[in-house]
Amino acid sequence: MCLPEWDIPQTGRERMIVPAAVGLRGTGVEDPEPAMLARLDARHVMMMGDNPALPRMPAKPTLMDFFRLRFSDIVIRHLLTSAARAMEAGQSETVVLACLLHDISNGCLIRTDHGYWGAQMIAPYVSEEVAWAVQYHQALRYFADEAAGYQYPESYVRFFGADYVPPAYIERDAAYARGHRWYMTSRLVTLYDIYFFQDTPVPDPEIFTDLIGRNFKIPEEGLGFDSSASAHMWRTAIWPNNFL
Ligand SMILES: [Fe+2]
Ligand SMILES: [Fe+2]
Repeated sequence: MCLPEWDIPQTGRERMIVPAAVGLRGTGVEDPEPAMLARLDARHVMMMGDNPALPRMPAKPTLMDFFRLRFSDIVIRHLLTSAARAMEAGQSETVVLACLLHDISNGCLIRTDHGYWGAQMIAPYVSEEVAWAVQYHQALRYFADEAAGYQYPESYVRFFGADYVPPAYIERDAAYARGHRWYMTSRLVTLYDIYFFQDTPVPDPEIFTDLIGRNFKIPEEGLGFDSSASAHMWRTAIWPNNFL
């Protein structure tokens, strides 16, 4: 195993990273934990705290700090473009914010059931309607609504194959959302939820500064350091490689 040289000058010790189980299981990559446990000694410890391989987050992180310092390029482009399109179309601030946040879980936390994780992550800081729209966009994406101008996404045919059938809980939650008073908010998220792989310019995040200021209550302590029900999710994004 090669030593991650980036860490040795700072601490004199190698800090070993055990990938999160959810990112490892089923991938065919061998679980490195047993071998790393066997290497523990004065010069080998487990990763905790700031990983020098990642950009350092400020002490009181804001929403945009996570965009800048933690999200992947694809997610940044996807979220900013979806929200910019909704804004250009004159949609409400509720819809634009839901578009801006709808795949936030994919940016720095977890992909499986991303709508549900993302909704929980943002719930303490946004209106109930925004969190609801983020949660249900995941299920609604699989079901066309011709009247609303939404068709089953071409990207999903490419992602999952033409014969993919969503599981029963997705069907159940989409049917529930369909009858809800906030249905159109979540449906609009799916309408602007388009992948842009072409070289379209990435919108300037600054265009959302005022909207975020009005609609996303960033805690005084910074995201991750208040005592909200989802603070641990934001901390996980700050320190994704912690052993515990
Ligand atoms: Fe999504
Ligand atoms: Fe999306």
